[in-house]
Amino acid sequence: RDAGADPSELLAWYDRHARDLPWRTGPAARAAGERPDPYRVWLSEIMLQQTTVAAARDYFRAFTERWPSVEDLAAAEDAEVMAAWAGLGYYARARNLLKCARVVAGELGGRFPETVEGLKALPGIGPYTAGAIAAIAYDEPATVVDGNVERVMARVHSVGLPLPQAKGELTALAAALTPEHRPGDYAQAVMDLGATICTPRSPACGICPWREPCRARSEGIAADLPRKAPK
Ligand code: ADE
Repeated sequence: RDAGADPSELLAWYDRHARDLPWRTGPAARAAGERPDPYRVWLSEIMLQQTTVAAARDYFRAFTERWPSVEDLAAAEDAEVMAAWAGLGYYARARNLLKCARVVAGELGGRFPETVEGLKALPGIGPYTAGAIAAIAYDEPATVVDGNVERVMARVHSVGLPLPQAKGELTALAAALTPEHRPGDYAQAVMDLGATICTPRSPACGICPWREPCRARSEGIAADLPRKAPK
């Protein structure tokens, strides 16, 4: 493991600053080690595939009020779900959402698979979403790499190679840093760090929990990373 960045420092920051999002459990439940409902984790991750947190929030609330469980969603009419999805875009996601709900409710006894492989076999769940669900819902030490994570890794380790060439290296660095302890909270902590502090243009390095180990910050190039290969 890298001698610099320490996952437990990021987790301590997350315990104080986690964004209050409707698909997350609150601080008290988190401290008690309670896991969020896999149905809610799955639904949120599908919505967040091509939609911002700000835009997904209200849709998530509306869906879970109307269909509180995967069985409820599986029993919905196609047209009702498509209408509720209107505005989120990428309608193939909504069709796969229903297909997936019907497989889980109809063939898996209402339980989502607990492994990345099992999750990936379901409609609409690719490698990223499978990792995110396994980590967040089941605390599996899956490596979850989205744009936020790539940016944080590129900066902490000062990876100057541009994207997309750097993808493999950034994924390996993210995997090496993923802790066995609280990997689900850790995955969300890196997302929150990337969304609120380690932002693309003007990172708030002064208040970053990883400011000390961050190599790009000490080199004065945090805002320049990750580099992008010219098209
Ligand atoms: N983006 C994708 N999944 C997320 C999550 N669980 N929390 C915040 N942002 C996300």
